Amino acid sequence: MTSAAQLLSALRAHPEGVAGTDLCQQLGVTRAAVWSHIESLREAGFEIIASPHRGYQLVSAPSALLAVDLQSRHKKGQTIGNTIHVLAQTTSTNDEVSQAALENHPEGLVVFAECQSAGRGRMGRRWSSPTGRGLWFSVLLRPSLAPSECTQLTAASANALVRAIQSVTGITPEIKWPNDLLINGKKVAGILTEMSAELENVRSVILGIGIDVNQTASEFPADLRSIATSLKLATGKSVSRANLAEALLRELDHEYARILAGDFTAVAEEWANHCTTLGKLATIDMGTRRVRGRAEALDENGALLLRTEHGRIERIIGGEVTLTK
Ligand code: BTN
Repeated sequence: MTSAAQLLSALRAHPEGVAGTDLCQQLGVTRAAVWSHIESLREAGFEIIASPHRGYQLVSAPSALLAVDLQSRHKKGQTIGNTIHVLAQTTSTNDEVSQAALENHPEGLVVFAECQSAGRGRMGRRWSSPTGRGLWFSVLLRPSLAPSECTQLTAASANALVRAIQSVTGITPEIKWPNDLLINGKKVAGILTEMSAELENVRSVILGIGIDVNQTASEFPADLRSIATSLKLATGKSVSRANLAEALLRELDHEYARILAGDFTAVAEEWANHCTTLGKLATIDMGTRRVRGRAEALDENGALLLRTEHGRIERIIGGEVTLTK
């Protein structure tokens, strides 16, 4: 963690204020260095007051997403978020992380962008990513899993998103298989999992996550207005993207640890409790193939088990779901 991030973390740990000398000690730097970090944080939009009695006090944080802020919230021992970048703009954060993966970057890297010019969703769809309104980010993982087990990561990520949104907003979204999060039947977030693998070996998995946070209805493209929502629309209040990002990285790390520990049964149970797809009649389009049946369960790798009208079980690993009943 950089000294500026450590300083921010110390200010947050002491909302009542912290003395300059204590900051020097904690960070192992001089008073002049503390002062210079305070000044640069102020320039970045943090309101920090200084008084002889209370020392330094963090009063407010800017609404822009800042790497120093997200780094200051990272907990020691957490893999996801061990390196965090925030870009003003890019084509797609999945492209950024996939480039880093090719350059052998270790797992845990997270890249956020304030805006994506070519954000993409599943099935080749575009993903609207207006500046500063949502969380658009990608996570680099290098799990020791077989390629067929990587669908577990999508279910685990969906759980993490549910818990993070619940802890920050009080609203519990529903999961629509495989990776849509819905509030009142409208999509609020999606996950795009991209994998690079050899026959037996996974080289990297990129979790691309998009969450509509503070858009108003008119800020959604016209064709999405009836099917998409934001956390602001659902709660009636603006939501702090930094608080949500912190909760997301924490919950993603927790779920990732469960998968690596081989505890997919617990992950699948939690997933099933939040999933609106199970028990329903579903039509699944997989490119040229269409299957109809009742969604019964997830298998041990996170694939959906569908009982068709002929009583056969079909194992589905991806596709577009339309729920009938
Ligand atoms: C979907 O529901 O279709 C998945 C949407 C995933 C969108 C995110 S935004 C960050 C990352 N970068 C992308 O280009 N896509 C994912």
